[in-house]
Amino acid sequence: MKLCDLHTHVLPGVDDGAKTMEYALQMLENAVASDVELLAVTPHCNGAFPLGNFLDSQLLDRFAQLKEAASGLPIALVLGAEVAVTAQLPQLLAQGKLPTIHGGRYLLTEFGYQTQEAEFVPMLQNILDLGYIPLIAHPERYHAVCRNPHLVGQWLDMGCHVQLTGGSILGTYGRTVRQTAGWLLKNGMVACIASDAHNLNQRSNYLQDVCDHLTVQYSKQYARSLMYHNPAKICHNETL
Ligand SMILES: [Fe+2]
Repeated sequence: MKLCDLHTHVLPGVDDGAKTMEYALQMLENAVASDVELLAVTPHCNGAFPLGNFLDSQLLDRFAQLKEAASGLPIALVLGAEVAVTAQLPQLLAQGKLPTIHGGRYLLTEFGYQTQEAEFVPMLQNILDLGYIPLIAHPERYHAVCRNPHLVGQWLDMGCHVQLTGGSILGTYGRTVRQTAGWLLKNGMVACIASDAHNLNQRSNYLQDVCDHLTVQYSKQYARSLMYHNPAKICHNETL
């Protein structure tokens, strides 16, 4: 089944993902091996890494170099970022400094794992008020969501969407995260599933095992919708 992966740390030398171009290409070969045909490169942005990875000529050059190096692979690459939520985020977004997914309305947004329940809504509303749609990265890993997964329903009602990480569904991050991911899937709260790939090992680009799991547990149609149709729509700035 063809897949679309919207969350990967493949861009080399900019965060805790691929360190070299050679390694990045091996990660992309892994993606190709699991039938990923469209992939967003989403370095950590506005966070703990020295480069910041804001939308500037340096980031665009690095992305162009990766595209050039990967031009022989049967995979389309687009640029985005996994943007850390900070008090400065709304201002940076308004100034056009944050890479959205393929330059569209969707902003892959990462909260700290210890974020308190009450802190989510005001920030999400700030992003929505600026005309962007938060695609909330791996909510199943946030402690507040593990305690109370109904929080996600409130975010969906506001107009946000959520992205689960494939490894969470398979148990890479432990039982509580796996159960939370399962609850969100069962309740139809998930827009898409991505790899959040950082390396060639436990956090890889390989998604076909996740796809198989969804097909067996739910249906092929559900797997296709969360792992291809919805992420491709987000990538092309379409409404879900
Ligand atoms: Fe990530």
